[in-house]
Parts: sequence; C-alpha cells; structure tokens
Amino acid sequence: MAIKMSDEEFTIFQKLIYDETGISLADGKKDLLISRLARRFIDLNVDSFSDYYEVVRNDEKEFMELVDRVSTHMTEFFREQPHFDFFEGRFIKEMEKRSLKTGRRKITAWSVACSTGEEPYSIAMSILENLAVPVNWEIKILASDISNGVLEQAKNGLYTDDRMKDIPKYLWNKYFLKGTGDNSGNYKVKDFLRNLMIFRRFNLLDSKWPIRGGFDAIFCRNVLIYFDKEMQVDVVRKLCHYLRDGGYLFLGHSETFVGGATGYQPIIPSVFKKPAA
Ligand SMILES: C[S@@+](CC[C@H](N)C(=O)[O-])C[C@H]1O[C@@H](n2cnc3c(N)ncnc32)[C@H](O)[C@@H]1O
Repeated sequence: MAIKMSDEEFTIFQKLIYDETGISLADGKKDLLISRLARRFIDLNVDSFSDYYEVVRNDEKEFMELVDRVSTHMTEFFREQPHFDFFEGRFIKEMEKRSLKTGRRKITAWSVACSTGEEPYSIAMSILENLAVPVNWEIKILASDISNGVLEQAKNGLYTDDRMKDIPKYLWNKYFLKGTGDNSGNYKVKDFLRNLMIFRRFNLLDSKWPIRGGFDAIFCRNVLIYFDKEMQVDVVRKLCHYLRDGGYLFLGHSETFVGGATGYQPIIPSVFKKPAA
C-alpha cells in the first residue's frame, strides 16, 4: 500500500517535530518522512498521516519513535580529531595544573547529544589515557540525548568491529571485551569505563535540566545543525550556565559561529572557553 501525505499534513508534522524537538524538517523532506514511516504504519495498522498524528499526539513513546525516524544519530568514536587533540593536550594539562593548585582531582564532562555513546566513551578514554595517574581522579561523564532508543544502545555499549575502527587498536583490549560465539565481531565496553557514565534523557529545548552545573567541558556537537539560528543561540546560552568559569564548550565544525555569537571566547576552531565572570 502506497502511503500518501498532503502538503498540509506534512506542514503539521513539521510543526509538531519543530515545536517538541527543535528539529527543522526541510520542505524537501516529505518523501523521506513517508519512506521512514512506511514500516511503522504497517506495524501500527495505521493508513493515513491524520490517524498517525492522533497516535503521536497521545502517546509519548510513539512520538519518540517518530523523532528517532526523522533525526540522524550518525556518530563515531573520536569524531573530529582536532577536538580530541586539544582535549588530551591543553585541557588535561589545565586540569592537572588546577589539581596542584586547589587539590581538586575531579573532571566532569557532558555530552549533550550523545547518540549511541561513541562520543562520551571517547571523552572518558581520552581522560584516562592522558592523566598522569588516573586512579587518583574522580571522572564523571553525563551522556544525554532526546532519544531513549540511542540511550539504550549507549548504556549497552555494544559495538561492531566496523564501529571500532576509529579507536586506536591498542585501546581495544584495554576498554572493550571481545565477543565470542554469537557475539563474535562485537565489542562490549568494560564495566569500569561504563561506570564513569551517567545516562539521562534530556531535551535540549527544555528551559533547564535537572542537574547541577559546573562542568569542566561540554560537548554539544552535530546537533545544533538541525535547529534554526535562534534556537541554536538559545541552547548555547543555556549551556553556558552549566559550564564552570574557564570551562570549554566543543561545538560541531559546522556549528561554530554560534559560540562566537554568545560571548564565549574562541580558542581553536569550534572550541570555546567560558570567560571568568
Ligand atoms: C548526529 S547525532 C550527534 C552525535 C554526537 N554528538 C556526535 O557529534 O557524533 C545528533 C543527536 O542529537 C539528538 N537530538 C536531536 N534533537 C535533540 C534535542 N532536542 N535534544 C537532545 N538531543 C537531540 C539525536 O537524537 C541524535 O542522537
């Protein structure tokens, strides 16, 4: 059965998705929406977009199914290497220096659109690999996303060897268990690495999030591109309240102008520092 969607119906879905998630679904994406929902319509025994609209309006879980189908979760370990070069070099050096001065041996970071977990696990591995004596430190990584589906995968921490290719080989055994039998070709994050994570479902559109701030670093990468300019600026301003003075904000390379527009100090391309008050 071919599903049909009128332009009016598409506009209603565009508005719903925009209002609830900030994601701007471009006008040319109507066919994409139809194709991504075709299978779902069969599963739910729904045959029109008006009926489906009623379902998603009344069922939060189904709304999230819809969001999962329109958003992209593309990610990879150690994505945007220059960020990790900076993080492993200057950032860690500053943390070590601060600990000598203040005695504080704690690093907190937040991956605000963590998708399936590659980003927060990369952050954690970078910290562990670059602190002189990591056992002396407390490390906490908040990993959040709007999608329960990707958060479940992130918590599970199971990756195919194809996903693992971006991790230097010498780290595989240290941080992952190699699957055998039915799980051969898969790698599972070791408990000690996963235990550094706190997973939460947060919508970046919410006016605030139920967490304490003071993060040393916030990674907000490759999610703002789906929002319009006004919303991008709004999110980056809100994040500022959760960063400690002198903390770093990492944006995606195509999102870099927002940092400058919101009073952060540019450090290297797409990395910004929150100035001291
Ligand atoms: C392309 S992935 C980025 C993953 C990772 N940050 C990276 O750079 O590789 C975008 C993620 O943003 C999430 N997302 C989209 N809208 C969101 C919102 N309003 N609040 C929180 N997360 C959102 C999606 O679910 C998706 O997992």
